[in-house]
Amino acid sequence: VALDGGRDYEIVIGAGLLADAQKILAERFPGRKLLTLCDAGAQTHLPAVLKKDALILEEGENTKTLAALERTLAWILDHKPDRKTMIVAFGGGVAGDHAGFAAAICLRGLDYIQIPTTLLAQVDSSVGGKTGINAAQGKNLIGAFHQPRLVLIDTDVLSTLAGRQMRAGYAEIVKYSFIGDRGFFDWLSANGQKVLAGDAGALAHAIATSCAAKAAVVAEDERETGRRALLNFGHTFAHALEAACHYDRRLLHGEAVAIGMALAFDVSRRMALCSAADAGAAIDHMQALGLKVHIRAIGDFPPLTADDLIGLMGSDKKISDGRLTFILCRGIGSAFATQDVAMDAVREALISSLGA
Ligand SMILES: NC(=O)c1ccc[n+]([C@@H]2O[C@H](COP(=O)([O-])OP(=O)(O)OC[C@H]3O[C@@H](n4cnc5c(N)ncnc54)[C@H](O)[C@@H]3O)[C@@H](O)[C@H]2O)c1
Ligand SMILES: [Zn+2]
Repeated sequence: VALDGGRDYEIVIGAGLLADAQKILAERFPGRKLLTLCDAGAQTHLPAVLKKDALILEEGENTKTLAALERTLAWILDHKPDRKTMIVAFGGGVAGDHAGFAAAICLRGLDYIQIPTTLLAQVDSSVGGKTGINAAQGKNLIGAFHQPRLVLIDTDVLSTLAGRQMRAGYAEIVKYSFIGDRGFFDWLSANGQKVLAGDAGALAHAIATSCAAKAAVVAEDERETGRRALLNFGHTFAHALEAACHYDRRLLHGEAVAIGMALAFDVSRRMALCSAADAGAAIDHMQALGLKVHIRAIGDFPPLTADDLIGLMGSDKKISDGRLTFILCRGIGSAFATQDVAMDAVREALISSLGA
C-alpha cells in the first residue's frame, strides 16, 4: 500500500504464515518490543512469540468502549513503552479498531501491526487506517486515522471461524466486485463457494483482490472525501438496519451490508440506472451463497415501516449538508455516489424487502 509521505506498508497474505511469525516480524522490525492486544476469540491462534506480552480483550463490541480502552492504555503504559514499541492488533475488527486506536493515541502514536483473524477484518477493517471505538451517541464516533506498518493475514486462522461470520466477511468481498470489478464478480461466481468453504487458494485470491481494491481507494483518498465513499456501497441501508436491531446479535455488520447492497441494486434498477439482469445476477449470487438479501429474512426484526427505516438512514454520520449520499450503480462493477436519489424508489425497494 503506497500512501503519501512515505507511509507505505506491506500486506502479507498466505496460509500458515503465523507459524513463521517470529521470523516475519524479526526481519521487518528487528529489536522492537511488541505489545499484543489479543481478541479472546482468536487466542488459540496467537503465536508463541506474541504470547509473552499480550493482553486479552473481551469478545464483542464491549471492547470498543472508553472503559475497555482505559484498561488497555493502562496496560500499555505499565509496560513503559517508548517510541520504538509496537502494538500488535490480533483478532477481528473489534480488536483491530480498539488496538489501532490505542496505538494512535499512546505517546501520540505508536507504530502498530494488524494481524486480522476474521474474514471481515482480513478484507476490510485491517486495511485503510480507520481506528476507533463507539460512543453512547453512535458507532465509531471516537477514533483516528492511523495506518498500520504491516498487515499479516494468515488464512489458516479462518478454520475456526463460524460460518455465519464467514458469510458476513464474504459480503465485503463481493462488495469490491460490485463497486468496480466486474471480472472479480465473474471469478467469485465460479469460486465463491470455495472461498466460503475455506479453500486456501481461493481465499488467498479473494483476500488479496479485496485488500488491493481497498488499498487503491484508500491511497487515493485516505480521509474519505471522494472515492473512498464508494466503499460504503450498501452501507447507508446497512447502518439503518443495524440501528433498527440495536447493533445486537440479530444482525452482523456484513449481513446488513449484503441486504443493503441488494437494496442498492434494487434502487438502481428502479431508477433505470442499472439493468434488471445485473441487479438480478448480483442478488442471486449472494443468495446462492447463503447470504440474506431481504430484510424479512432477519430473525426478530422489529416491526418498522419503510419510512421508519428512511428516518434511521438520516442519522448516519456520512451525511453532508443535511443530504443523504447514496452509493448506487450502473451495473455490476460501476458504483457511483450521488445525492440525487428518487426517494420513491428507495421506499419501494424497502417495502419489497420488508415483504410488507
Ligand atoms: N476500521 C474499519 O475500517 C472497519 C471496517 C469494517 C468494520 N469495522 C469494525 O469491525 C468490527 C467487526 O469486525 P468483525 O466482523 O471481525 O467482528 P468481531 O471482531 O466481533 O469478531 C467476530 C467474532 O469472531 C471471533 N473471532 C475472531 N477471530 C476468530 C477466529 N479466527 N476463529 C474463531 N473466532 C474468531 C471474535 O472473538 C468475535 O467473537 C465492527 O466493530 C466494525 O465497526 C471496522
Ligand atoms: Zn462494512
